[in-house]
Amino acid sequence: MNSPVSRRRFLAGLAAALGGAGTRPALELSAAPQRADTERPVNTYDTLAKLASNENPHGPSEAVKKAMSEAAKYANRYMYPDGGIVEAIAEYHGVGSENVILGAGSGEILKVADDTFLPERRKIVGPSPTYESVYLYATNSNAEAFEVPLVQARGYAVDIRKMITVTLQNYRDVGLVYICNPNNPTGKIIPRNDVRLLVDSIPDEIPIVIDEAYHHYVDNPQYEESIRYVKEGRNVIVTRTFSKMAALAGMRLGYGIAPKELIDRMIPFALYSINAPVKYGGVAALKDKAFENRVRELNKRIRDKVTKELVELGWEVLPSDASFFMVNVRRDVDSLVEDFHQKGILVGRKFPPMNEWLRVSVGTEVEMSRFMRVFKELLGTGKKI
Ligand SMILES: Cc1ncc(COP(=O)(O)O)c(C=O)c1O
Repeated sequence: MNSPVSRRRFLAGLAAALGGAGTRPALELSAAPQRADTERPVNTYDTLAKLASNENPHGPSEAVKKAMSEAAKYANRYMYPDGGIVEAIAEYHGVGSENVILGAGSGEILKVADDTFLPERRKIVGPSPTYESVYLYATNSNAEAFEVPLVQARGYAVDIRKMITVTLQNYRDVGLVYICNPNNPTGKIIPRNDVRLLVDSIPDEIPIVIDEAYHHYVDNPQYEESIRYVKEGRNVIVTRTFSKMAALAGMRLGYGIAPKELIDRMIPFALYSINAPVKYGGVAALKDKAFENRVRELNKRIRDKVTKELVELGWEVLPSDASFFMVNVRRDVDSLVEDFHQKGILVGRKFPPMNEWLRVSVGTEVEMSRFMRVFKELLGTGKKI
């Protein structure tokens, strides 16, 4: 997108993707004089269907927007009141304030956990593929990841038993165990019995991070949230975010829930660079159950409709419990992502070794019809003739 050539191809593709009245033909656009990137039309980003980062396409609730606007008056302050966000999170989960750590996104909590626990013991154990930043942060701490492959034969399930074996075999070196439930990028849950088995089998002194970024979307009787393990006093750190269901990705707020001893060890590594409005927005989001229920149902309805259509076209789709799904496109994902981009649609990156599986975030109905139109154009039928 930085070179004039790629921008020209992109604009031409975008014009073709938008099609119809009012859009200039691709040829005319590609022949237009080049502008510097800084002069790019401000609404280019707004025209894209953003199905690459698992954001909530519906935006934050009215109550959240109101709370954030009212808190904008603290923009000029350092020591502003915080809206009682820590207490609100603690009350929401039925834990004490001493069990809560805040971050500018849950990504910060993952980083803080790596910074805290990996310098002592230099290995992290987790599934692969998963939310890879956790391994990236580990590498930055000069730690090493034992990445346990998902089990293809079980629909790309997380191999909990293998994770336990690997941890026990390397017991002295492992500083952290990580799971993501439901897992990103597959959207598949780790059933409650597997989580229980993991927690019961990992030696007490090795903390387990359970990343529940997509927890709010799950509607599956096999699933259970993991805060209960913190309440049982187990060495578990549950991470949650306001970036997904609460639709505050651009505002940056997440948190961890853990036993006080773990929180006390992590606090020195946290930055606390969280803005005033999002703290108020977070408090309002925790209270807005009606919004959450609406978005969960909407996400499920749109996701199920699109995935059914793809299956009817002959494509293999992984059943998902989250706000994204994977479809086996039977070609390398990298070039396909670029092809979608040319047509104004951002879709997920490659998640090795699932190189032919495309991750698609569930957008609005309009965005998903655009996606389906382009998908059919680029890939056609999946039926073997
Ligand atoms: C599984 C998972 N965990 C954590 C994050 C980090 O999100 P944030 O830092 O916005 O809370 C993401 C973001 O996509 C994610 O998919």
